[in-house]
Formats: sequence, C-alpha cells, structure tokens
Amino acid sequence: MCGIIGAVTESAIEPVLEGLGRLEYRGYDSSGISILSNNKIQTIKAQGKLNNLKERLSMQSLEGKCCIGHTRWATHGRANVTNAHPHQCGQVSVVHNGIIENYLQLKQQLMQWGHHFDSSTDSEVVPHLINHYLAQQMSPEEAIEKTITQLKGSYALGILINGTSNNLYAIKQGSPLVISQGNNGAYMASDAMGLGADSSKIYYPKDNQLITLNNHEIKLCSRSLNTKIHYVNNKHCSKVISKGEHSSFMEKEIFEQVDLLKKLSVNNYYDKYSAINFKDLNKITIIACGTSYYAASVAKTWFEKYANILVEIDIASEYRYRSPIIIDNELTIFVSQSGETADTLAALRYAKSKSAQTLALVNVANSTIAREAKFTFEIYAGPEIGVASTKAFTCQLAIFYKIAMEAAKQRSFIEPSELKELALNFMQLPYIIEKILQNRTDMKMMAKKLSNYSNILFLGRGALTAIAQEGALKLKEISYIHAEAYAAGELKHGPIALLDEKMPVVVIAPKNNLTDKLLSNIQEVQARNAPLFIIGDSSIREYVNLQEDEFFELPLIPESILPIISVIPMQLLALYSAKILGKNIDQPRNLAKSVTVE
Ligand code: M6R
Repeated sequence: MCGIIGAVTESAIEPVLEGLGRLEYRGYDSSGISILSNNKIQTIKAQGKLNNLKERLSMQSLEGKCCIGHTRWATHGRANVTNAHPHQCGQVSVVHNGIIENYLQLKQQLMQWGHHFDSSTDSEVVPHLINHYLAQQMSPEEAIEKTITQLKGSYALGILINGTSNNLYAIKQGSPLVISQGNNGAYMASDAMGLGADSSKIYYPKDNQLITLNNHEIKLCSRSLNTKIHYVNNKHCSKVISKGEHSSFMEKEIFEQVDLLKKLSVNNYYDKYSAINFKDLNKITIIACGTSYYAASVAKTWFEKYANILVEIDIASEYRYRSPIIIDNELTIFVSQSGETADTLAALRYAKSKSAQTLALVNVANSTIAREAKFTFEIYAGPEIGVASTKAFTCQLAIFYKIAMEAAKQRSFIEPSELKELALNFMQLPYIIEKILQNRTDMKMMAKKLSNYSNILFLGRGALTAIAQEGALKLKEISYIHAEAYAAGELKHGPIALLDEKMPVVVIAPKNNLTDKLLSNIQEVQARNAPLFIIGDSSIREYVNLQEDEFFELPLIPESILPIISVIPMQLLALYSAKILGKNIDQPRNLAKSVTVE
C-alpha cells in the first residue's frame, strides 16, 4: 500500500504536499518528504496523519526543485517516525510502495559490508544498495538498475540522488506507478489521483523501466530506447473533491447515491454489455475482496435467478492458491473499486495465464485491473474517498444488475415481461433510496442504542445475507464495534450460543419469499432475550413488538432490487454509530482505501 509522489518543478514541495493529501487514502500511519535543497537532501517525517507533517514543515522554510513524498500504511515495522519514509542513506533518498520480500538477506549482506540501519522496514535496503553501488563508481542509472536486480517482491520507487542536477528517478515492478509531464514540470505518483492540475497527460510505465524526470523532460533509460512513452488523458486531473455540506466524505458519498443511481437508470449501457457472449457461457466466476466481494455475492443470485448461469464466487486472496478449475466458455469477473487491489490483480493475472476470458468491473478507469482485463466496465461512482466503501458498492450492484439483465436477455431465460419489470424496478432505485435517507433520524436513534454494545450479530437471508455481511463489515471498519453476519438459517447451527441480553441482533427483514422463515429465526432470537433490531417493512412490524428505536421501516420494495436498497440503512447505521462514538469516519485506524500489497 502507501502513496508515493515526486515532483521536479519550481517549488516542488507544494505539488508533493498536495499530492500526499490526495494519496492519503492509501495509508495514513505516517508521512514524510525529502527535498533537494542547496546541494543537500533534507528529509522531514512525522508520525500519524499528514497534518502532523505539515505542522512540522510549517516551522521551517524549505525550498527546492526536486522533492519526493510518502504516506505510509505500515507493513514492516511499527507506525513511527523512524519507519516513516523517505529512507535515506548518504546522498540517496527513497520512497517505496510495495514489499521487498528478500530484505532480510539483503540487510544482512549490507550489514556485513558495514551499513547501519535505522528502521525495521523492508524499504531501507533500497537506498543502502544504491549507495553501495554508487560508491563503486557506478552512475546513478547503473546503481539503480543494479539494485533492482537484487530485489524480490513488488515495488514502485521514487529516488533522489544528490548531485544529479535535480533528477528524480522512478521505477516499478508489480506496484502501480504513473508519470506525467506537465507545462511546469514532471511528476510521478502511485496513481493518477495523486497528480494535480499540471498533469493532464499521464504515462503508465512498464515493469523495470527506469525513468528519469527533470524539469524539462522525462526520459527512459538507455535499455528502453525502443519503447515510446505513450501518454493518455488523466481523467482525475485537477478535480477538487470536497466534503461539501457533509461532516465526512463517507456521509457525502452515501447521499450521492441518489444522483448516481438516477444517472445509471437513464443511461443505457446494454450495447456495451452485449460485447460479452452470455448465451454460450458455461460458467461465471466472480472474484473480489471486501465490499466488492459482497457485491459479487449478490450478483451471483441475480445471474442464477434471471439468466440461469452457473456462478461461483471467490475471495481474491484465495483464488489462485486453491487450483481453481477454469472450464471452457467460462467468464471470470474481477470486481474492484480501486482497480489496484493486489490480491484481485494477482487473481486476474492468474486467470489470464490460464487463458480464461476476463472482465473487470472497476470504478477507477485506467487502473491496473482495468488496463489488464480483456473487457472493462466502469461503475461510474466517481472518486470514493471514505475508506469505508458505500457508493461504489451500490454502483457495483447497479451495474451487475444491468449485466444480469443483458445475460437474461441473451439467454432468453425469463419472459420479456419479467425483463421489463426488472428494468422498471431499477428505475425506482433512486427514489426509494431518497426516501430512506429522508428517514435517517430513525437510524440515528437505532445507532444510539446499538452503539452501547461491544458485539452485534447481523442476520439476513438469500441475497440479503451478503447485505448483512456488508453491514457488519461497515460497522467494524469505522465504529470498531465487533460485528459478524450470518445467513439467518445458520443461527441455530452454532451462533445461537452467543445470544443473551448483551448480544443484540440486527435482522434485515423486508417482505420477500423468505419472510416466513425469517420470522421463525426472529422468534429464536427473542426467546433467548437478545435485544432485537429490525430493518424491515410495515408487514413485519405487526409480528414483532419493538420500540421506535429498534425498528427501521423500509418502504415496500420489489424483490429484485432489495439488496441495493437494504444496504443504505446498513451504511447509515455504521456512519451514525461511528459518529456517536467519536471515531474518525473517513480514515479509520489500521485501514487504507486501496490495498496494494498481498
Ligand atoms: O478497491 P477494491 O474494491 O478492490 O477494494 C476491496 C476492499 O479492500 C474494500 O472493499 C474494503 O473492504 C473496503 N474498505 C470496504 O469498505
């Protein structure tokens, strides 16, 4: 994970600090910069959020034309100043995103050569190795190239070397990196989001292509002379993203869902989706992590029900390690908001290596997953800043719903009238979600009561089990209340042992074909004195005797769109619980928005 950035321009510190602000979603355990100033590399670092670094920098006046910066999500070594990047050895300073897997051997070797290490990170071996080779009279380019032949693992590196006339070096292997030549300078960053207004054209370097950036030009190293730098437009360029009237990005993103779904319901993307031949498919496998995986779980139910396609879902970190069986005419779908998740990317590469047909469902256009899959469909959620994913989930579901309809159409599995009904149901989404958001005060009351507990159990049935899981994940992520989710029928097979007056149970219970079964599960909860909370429609209310703050009422909702609607109260519950508990909503502890390490 981690965000890296570099700039070669007049007053390079400004774009670096701005970029770090935009990259903070990749990690915020610590941050730091190195700047080439008066023939000297100056490095300033701070523990915690970027504001701490800014505060330290405000106490000194640093100027320079060549600067690198880093925002960290700790892997090797605690989140303290010593382990913060950049790491410096002599005249070399380095920022790193990724993991150097053989760092212990390299460190041992370097120590035998007399090097002394300050940090417990894997990254620190990089400046030491470069320095070692520079001492052997190699040129900076040779020293860097020699260094990377020693590294095993993944890396994107920004490298400053004193005495190189304001050159900044960048190189990657496996980890994301983007380069840009602007009117006022040259820049590098972990992803396009980190780049500012001067970066309308960007280049995605290939693995192990050494790039030299300076004020006037971007150069590939001599080895790559046959490769051309091919710039593409930066869709994220200079977009200023603010919270508006909201107290957090997550809150803003929850409220944005109404407009996003309005846009998705008027836009017809069938033409795009018809690029996939669903008629002859024998199987779909959907692979993702976290929230995107729960979107996959819901999508499975739609593909099976409306298009009669065999669907398997898998957690990306497991997929390639379990010898998955890829059959003829199988479509593998990779779902990722960021398009950079290391596990999902590795699973995609694995599927490609087995000649599977690949489709990516991403929010970030031009992300690595988007670029590497055969087909790519965007989910059009716009930049999602809150670490806890909300609008990307509903947009993933919305696009899956449309793809499932296309599959149903091609396979003629349901009647045209049913297909029409599915489309009409979809059109209702933004209006129903708007209504739920208007009733948010009711959810605040429920959150007030629930936030007194340390553990919460969520139950759902059918596709809503995935929504219960997503609700539990949201709550854990931002309120730190321990929450688990089960298919309600599973309760009696074990988790029921947990139930007593200290274990509240939240049941997602809108009216559908499983309501009667769910009502029995609710009885089982009440019989064990567990505090009961229900998110359901009026038809359920008469069966349960609950107080105002224990029942969140949903309008009557067509079954096909229930999962998309039911997640909204889950998002509100997590948001308000975290607010009541005074937690950091957008940057919860230990997490990062984009998980770019395995
Ligand atoms: O960018 P991705 O969709 O690939 O990310 C996958 C997960 O890391 C992500 O959904 C994570 O679980 C979120 N923090 C959930 O809110």
